[in-house]
Amino acid sequence: MSSSEPRDAVPAPSRVRAAFEGEPLEAEAGASVAAALIGEGRQAWRTTREGRPRGLFCGIGVCYDCLVEIDGESGQRACMIPLRDGMEVRRTGVPGDARTIDDEEASR
Ligand code: FES
Repeated sequence: MSSSEPRDAVPAPSRVRAAFEGEPLEAEAGASVAAALIGEGRQAWRTTREGRPRGLFCGIGVCYDCLVEIDGESGQRACMIPLRDGMEVRRTGVPGDARTIDDEEASR
C-alpha cells in the first residue's frame, strides 16, 4: 500500500467472466450462476412442461426451479454453483423437452 491510499481502502472485488447462451455473463467472484443471471436482469431461464417460466425461487438448492446446463452438463442448480471464468451456461428444459424461453416470454 502506498502512503497515498487510505488505510481502510477496500480492494475492488474481482470479476468473473462467463457466457450465457453465448452472450457475456459477468459477476463478482463468488456469486452464484443464478445471482449472475439475476444481476443481468434475467428473471427466468427455463420453462416447465406446461411452458411456465422458471428461474430463481428458493435460492438454497431445494426447489430445482433454477436448473441450467453448465459446460455441457444439464440439470445443474444455478443457485448452488459459483460462476467461474470461462463457464458456458445454457438454458435447459425439463428432461426430454427441448423447449426454451426467451426473455420476452419470461417477462409475461
Ligand atoms: S432456486 Fe431453488 S434450487 Fe435453485
